[in-house]
Amino acid sequence: MSAAPQSRATPWPAVPDDANALAANVWPDAADRDEHGVLRLGGIPATTLRERFGTPLYVLDEDEVRARARRTLAAFRTAAAAHDVQARVYYAGKAFLSTEVVHWVTDEGLAVDVCTGGELAVALAAGADPSRLGFHGNNKSVAELERAVAVGIGSIVIDSWIELERLAAIVERRDAQQAVLVRVNSGVHAETHDFLATAHEDQKFGFTLQDAAAAVARIRELDGLTFVGLHCHIGSQIFGTAGFRESAARVVELHAALLEGGDVPVLNLGGGFGIAYRPEDDPTPIEELATGIVEAVARECAVRGIPIPNLAFEPGRAIVGKAGVTLYEVGTTKPVEVDESFTRLYVSVDGGMSDNARPALYGAQYTARVASRTSDAEPALARVVGKHCESGDIVVDAEYLPGDVAPGDLLAVPATGAYCFSLASNYNYVPRPPVVALRGGEARVIVRGETVDDLLARDAGLTAPTEGNDMPVLSEGIETK
Ligand code: LLP
Repeated sequence: MSAAPQSRATPWPAVPDDANALAANVWPDAADRDEHGVLRLGGIPATTLRERFGTPLYVLDEDEVRARARRTLAAFRTAAAAHDVQARVYYAGKAFLSTEVVHWVTDEGLAVDVCTGGELAVALAAGADPSRLGFHGNNKSVAELERAVAVGIGSIVIDSWIELERLAAIVERRDAQQAVLVRVNSGVHAETHDFLATAHEDQKFGFTLQDAAAAVARIRELDGLTFVGLHCHIGSQIFGTAGFRESAARVVELHAALLEGGDVPVLNLGGGFGIAYRPEDDPTPIEELATGIVEAVARECAVRGIPIPNLAFEPGRAIVGKAGVTLYEVGTTKPVEVDESFTRLYVSVDGGMSDNARPALYGAQYTARVASRTSDAEPALARVVGKHCESGDIVVDAEYLPGDVAPGDLLAVPATGAYCFSLASNYNYVPRPPVVALRGGEARVIVRGETVDDLLARDAGLTAPTEGNDMPVLSEGIETK
């Protein structure tokens, strides 16, 4: 199994033929340059977006999110239908969640997976049908579980013995009935290339395959819980089908054993389908993944002579990742002589690790282009950095940009739709940028940007602290913390 490369062998990419080119695999489908060379997103010049909304700016192409949601659903449904079973696709909200995004994906027929009370609150605020929500997480609080049961959430994925008993007590007290899945740790991990050698994983999620059987037996003893199936998620940003197929084989074995004790209608194989962040990345098309995974499940079921269960999947990044572009303005540039043969051009932009933590967290590699113009200047090896007080505040580690890139230029970083907005912080008291959605040639704010007032609003030295203010209430009945 291969995971996408998080770092490359040489510290720089190949010199491009054209440092203005927009590689089709990383930019939204509707990205191009107008007759002046200005980058257009969804038909709107990046310069117009800057004038209207400022920078940094998260731009999310709604048409592309919808198209990817449709394509992903069709891929899994078609693959499942070939074996006479059904597939449900949950959008993994952790990749990017706002009420608008919930509307788009549910309009397109997806269910939604949430993993905290906060994410649940957003999905409910968007009017999502609670019966089409799934709830994950390795440490759901009593309040979060209470809320989920109270609103009639479709399913809860149980992650531990303690949670099992916690939920059992809640449903008993409320005299409720709750559908649950059991999360298993199949021992296959995305970051492990030699997955066959991985016997037991040292991580926090789920039950081991051995313990899961006992957990299911316990659930089946309880009147208030209905066991519907196993859940397994092997990791994220995975290229190829090998890891999914191996994991499916292991999980189907347990699934088959559980059939001896009753129905097991569903198998949820999670998300993790990779996308291209750089032109050289080559993820497996979703149709191929869907077919490969479903065929693997079908084969494993056939070997054991059991019916194929209905299948569920939870893509996040694959739906929103490529639909997002972040626009920045260049503030300073600085050639830094690394050694006698090599100078690196540092290009500082007006955001950084607060709006995209992924390079700092995972060594993630991105690409960038000057958005406000094209240039014939000789390409220079650049490192795009943010404005935070850390040398690890890198947005794009290595990219050839036109050598005349200068203060005032707009810089665009593609493939930022997933896990950038959702991982954003206020480090150094930098306000988080707005999110603008593009559809049919129109742009509109779907999450407003933060102001300095927002940054000061929680400072109890300026606003009188309220009694008991240590448990902020997000909305009725949902407490996070
Ligand atoms: N289902 C479960 C149970 C998950 O834990 C996740 C991601 C997904 C689905 C969706 O995975 P996706 O299809 O988006 O790969 N912050 C990291 C990724 C963390 C993923 C956490 N779980 C990053 O920026 O790469």
